[in-house]
Amino acid sequence: MCGIIAYKGEENVVQIIIDGLKHLEYRGYDSSGLCIVSKNKTFLIKKTGKIDNLLEEVEKKQKRNEMTEGEIGIGHSRWATHGAVTEVNAHPHFSCDREIFVVHNGIVENYESLKKELIKKGHRFVSQTDTEVIPHLIEEYRKNNTFVAACEKTFQRLKGLFAIVALDKKTGEIIGTRNGSPLVMGIGEKGLFLASDIPAFLDKTNRVIFLDDGDMVHIINGEEYKIKNLISKKYLKKKINIIDWDKEEAEKGKHPHFMIKEIKEIPEAIKKATWQDKKTLQSVVNLIKKSSGVFFVGCGTAGHSCLFGQYAFSSLLGKRTGFSAASEFKNFLPALDKSALLIAVSQSGETIDTLEAVKKAKEKEIKVVSLVNVMGSTLTRISDYVLMINAGPEKCVLATKSYLSQLAVILLIVFSVLGQEQKGEDRLKKISRELHQLFEDKKFISQIQKLAKQLSSAEHIFTIGRSYDYPTALETALKIKEGCYIHTEAFAGGELKHGVIALIEKGTPCIVHLSKSEEEENTLINAMELQSRGAYIVGIGPEKKKDFDYFITVPEVEEAFSPLVNIAPIHLLSYYIALEKGIDPDKPRNLAKSVTVK
Ligand code: F6R
Repeated sequence: MCGIIAYKGEENVVQIIIDGLKHLEYRGYDSSGLCIVSKNKTFLIKKTGKIDNLLEEVEKKQKRNEMTEGEIGIGHSRWATHGAVTEVNAHPHFSCDREIFVVHNGIVENYESLKKELIKKGHRFVSQTDTEVIPHLIEEYRKNNTFVAACEKTFQRLKGLFAIVALDKKTGEIIGTRNGSPLVMGIGEKGLFLASDIPAFLDKTNRVIFLDDGDMVHIINGEEYKIKNLISKKYLKKKINIIDWDKEEAEKGKHPHFMIKEIKEIPEAIKKATWQDKKTLQSVVNLIKKSSGVFFVGCGTAGHSCLFGQYAFSSLLGKRTGFSAASEFKNFLPALDKSALLIAVSQSGETIDTLEAVKKAKEKEIKVVSLVNVMGSTLTRISDYVLMINAGPEKCVLATKSYLSQLAVILLIVFSVLGQEQKGEDRLKKISRELHQLFEDKKFISQIQKLAKQLSSAEHIFTIGRSYDYPTALETALKIKEGCYIHTEAFAGGELKHGVIALIEKGTPCIVHLSKSEEEENTLINAMELQSRGAYIVGIGPEKKKDFDYFITVPEVEEAFSPLVNIAPIHLLSYYIALEKGIDPDKPRNLAKSVTVK
């Protein structure tokens, strides 16, 4: 979704804003813009397309001496919701007098009525966005108020979920607020930052203040700031957190794409997932034992982790367990009461559907445990207990390492409930070592590259798996759809023959996930059913099967752990197919890393 970066301080503002936007690229964007204030002059530049287009324009202006270094800046990467992708609709938006500039993430739901009111008062609008009402409303209140008071009055009139940063050219003040959309503050040695996410300024500072909904930050100069909560009306002294993410972790380094870097980090991510705070883990175990049942919610890949959780809690713990995509949760809520437990899974901790599901559960006094990757994210702040999955920054739009970290934490919980935490941890560490070896194995990599070449021209792919391999098949389909633009459908092994087998033609590729379990035989029967109708069968499992057209062997592990080893080749396959097709694997079309709008 949209990305925000703002800075006031002594360093090269233009560079900071551009670098910040580049770090936020993973959130998805279709246009970008910035506004720099320098010695009472403003430079406003907006461009559609890549952030590099914005950078090019900035460089052109700098070369022609049409732009100088500044002291204050705000930048924005837009993922369009209201209004087409045009330069006019790109942020920052501004007031009639071009003194107030605003960047915004989220949706102003009551923008139409505000716009009518402002037009009546003589304000002129130039864009089709909901955002533009904000600078005009601030301008209106500014007539009789200070900038801070005008912002406060404006923010209180906005309905919807948003993060906003406003800049006043006259005073050089920056004001930011959030309500449901992410905004964090960075405290640097030479200036202050506001951004949608920590990586935007992590190369400058790891000292971070997490803002809560209703918090309004007033940046007075490069050192001084005030935070007031607009709901309680109180000024707050908020804790400065030290983030232990390595800045290299948020960079591509020697890798051509974040996706391959993050896939290679999977072994480390699994190991780090076992680094859980013992006290919190024990509290979660107690809650699970005490609960009448557990319900999982998540979206996309995180949803597949939840489905895996449902299989594991039900089959290994004998626990009554449910799962729904977070956006569908309200249909299941009536069947839950406060004796139940909700487990919410989210890499970003900012997915709006997941946050809403959690809020609804909390209204019914249902306890919430969340599994999250991003420290200080909204989900970590509204849950009763948080287990960090510790995958480290994940910037490729496609979730890879975070999926395995989520599976690992779920397994660790299951083994802890069984009183076998050490066993769970040992198994995970062993898998981490085995996957490390696998990723180093040149033969394995070239086998996947060869398959990628073959599958890159496919129009349709089917994938099946039974039991724990069913969530894996679903995740396989998602990775190939989003990363390679190939229609891929997943089915539980037994389901294809109930209709979809009609679509199998000569050469249709079918990926069959296998693991050592009592279901293996049945999956093999399903594979042969497909093959005898002409399908090209690709197997992924611990033991090479002779009748398959292509087989990728993975380490043999206990059944419940098989989703970890069975999905790893798919991540690589999706990456290499994307390269074959000339798709940027880090930023597939139409997608955003964190989906903060409905
Ligand atoms: C798929 C993918 C998405 C996310 C989903 C939830 O590769 O990345 O399906 O899994 O948008 O995001 P989080 O986990 O941040 O809640």
